[in-house]
Amino acid sequence: MYKPGLKGVTAVETSLSQINGEQGMLLYRNTPIQEIIKKYSFEETAYYLLYGTIPAKEKLIIFESNLKIYRKLPIHIMRILDSLPKELSMMDVLRTAVSSVTLEHDSYLKNANQLIAIMPTIIAYRYRKIKNQPIINPDDNLNHVNNFIYMLKGNINTTHASMLETYLIMTMEHGLNASTFSARVTISTQSDLVSAITSAIGTMKGPLHGGAPSGVIRLLDEINTEDRIIEVIHNKLKNKERIMGFGHRVYKTVDPRAEALKNKINELDELPEWIKLAIKTEKETIKLLNKHKPNQRLYTNVEYYAAAIMKSLDIDPELFTAIFSSSRVIGWCAHAIEQINNNTIFRPTAKYITK
Ligand code: ACO
Repeated sequence: MYKPGLKGVTAVETSLSQINGEQGMLLYRNTPIQEIIKKYSFEETAYYLLYGTIPAKEKLIIFESNLKIYRKLPIHIMRILDSLPKELSMMDVLRTAVSSVTLEHDSYLKNANQLIAIMPTIIAYRYRKIKNQPIINPDDNLNHVNNFIYMLKGNINTTHASMLETYLIMTMEHGLNASTFSARVTISTQSDLVSAITSAIGTMKGPLHGGAPSGVIRLLDEINTEDRIIEVIHNKLKNKERIMGFGHRVYKTVDPRAEALKNKINELDELPEWIKLAIKTEKETIKLLNKHKPNQRLYTNVEYYAAAIMKSLDIDPELFTAIFSSSRVIGWCAHAIEQINNNTIFRPTAKYITK
């Protein structure tokens, strides 16, 4: 039976996450996401998704030190990054640089460590280079998230680091989304992990998937003041435009990741004006979406509050999708490994129609 966009089609079995779109529930393996962000670090959560257990102290230390080893950029990747045209978007740069990673092991899990570790360095190196800022080398005394902020900005604000860590943990894994599916399709041909992750990055780039947070910033910049919310959203809906940061293929209620990010933002002592505008816009937009699309059940998705967090951290919107990719690479790798361990090549059929 033909299902456009494979809507509702079950294409794989996975132990990596459970999503209940009607109830707004997300579990990594069998642990609710709310518990994960309260109890575990970025590294512990990544380990849990990749290896299947929360690591004991010794295992965690080995994993953390692997990430530290692979953070450093090999010379050939630096050269590639330096030679790419300035106008290339960060996602194009990330896709190109990741595709040139030389895997050092036969083990998929070790290859995954290598790819997870190197992505933040690629992003920070390239960003500082095109902004003519001195390059900051990775610091072995810092954990994965703090090191990323340090390489990008040169200093670490602990509140900001904690918000970014929550965002990165929350976006590591999300079932068979488009980019994860790409990774699984590629590895199902018995290709390698670098090729699988390169496919996934190309898929993530699109505005209907990972490209939404920059769209959210543009939307809120366009609204600018509370009194313009209704007018701007109404006009967009009248022109049949999509409102970025709203709607989800799976969630038909509030996206639990958006909820958790909003809670994290509310821990701030004082909410920046921009965030107050985002909260008010969410409320009004949901009302308008209900009116214009009464059967669709459209709410904020994770990208909406991701944009708010990135804006609070003063991170350039050009980096949003690449940073999202630097956490989702964990889900991509875990899925690719799950696929290759019980593989059937993907080869659906196409229905011929006369045109
Ligand atoms: N604004 C306005 N209308 C919307 C929106 C939206 N954000 N999302 C869905 N709709 C409407 C569509 O216009 C369509 O209406 P119609 O039937 O009257 O034509 C209906 O809802 C169904 O749309 P589909 O695209 O079939 O729904 P689907 O579940 O496949 O879409 C998607 C999911 C692509 C995320 C969609 O909601 C969207 O485009 N949202 C905006 C982009 C966005 O925020 N993307 C980030 C997603 S989260 C992530 O990728 C991590």
